[in-house]
Amino acid sequence: MSAKLFDQELGIRTTGLREWQGNTAYNRYEATPYQALETLFRAYKIKKDARVVDFGCGRGRVVFYIHRRFRVPVVGIEANDKTYEEALDNKQRYRIKAKHIDAPIRLKYGLAEHYRVKPEDNCFYFFNPFSHKVFKKVMGNIMDSVEENPRSIDLILYYPLPEFKQIVKQYPFRKINKVRVPGAIDPLEKFVIYRLSKEALEVSDESQEGNSFNPSNIVSNN
Ligand SMILES: C[S@@+](CC[C@H](N)C(=O)[O-])C[C@H]1O[C@@H](n2cnc3c(N)ncnc32)[C@H](O)[C@@H]1O
Repeated sequence: MSAKLFDQELGIRTTGLREWQGNTAYNRYEATPYQALETLFRAYKIKKDARVVDFGCGRGRVVFYIHRRFRVPVVGIEANDKTYEEALDNKQRYRIKAKHIDAPIRLKYGLAEHYRVKPEDNCFYFFNPFSHKVFKKVMGNIMDSVEENPRSIDLILYYPLPEFKQIVKQYPFRKINKVRVPGAIDPLEKFVIYRLSKEALEVSDESQEGNSFNPSNIVSNN
């Protein structure tokens, strides 16, 4: 099925690209292909108690897709004003089709690195939205939140660049799945899913002897 048909089913418009003018830290808008999402969610299921945050949600394809498929609360954060407006228009149209799904959909305009991670946020989606420096800040915010409100969390990386994987490795996550997109030529067209369990968090906390999460305190075994 084509992207346009998937879009039609959800009542949204998410195809196309949008470049940033001159900002090299923030990547362009391009939606995760629907075929990739279909493949991912055959292999990995969003938990019933999840609240999913898409950092750099663009026009909202991933948040609406997950909302409809798993009926869980979703949050999308987008920093490009035009793209954000398009996401809001999509939400209006999507909501007409998805009246029966109670779970809330929150779209926020702003920088991902300024988003205050909430205690109920426990599944984080990234499709190569920004530079690894920004990713490091966002990961720091996620870990601060997890330290304040200990819980298990999942990270889903689509198109996982090596610098991103290195940052994740500085924390006590374990890789729980790798999902390749069938027919993809580019080897980065895959998902890597990491989980940080509450238990791993406690063990790591004990071994840190009261230090807060600071990647430089964690000895890497790579
Ligand atoms: C590759 S697109 C991914 C869109 C969506 N997550 C998906 O998979 O369909 C990356 C998006 O991140 C947005 N973005 C880039 N830097 C950002 C930042 N610092 N904060 C929030 N959004 C950002 C871009 O404007 C773009 O819409």
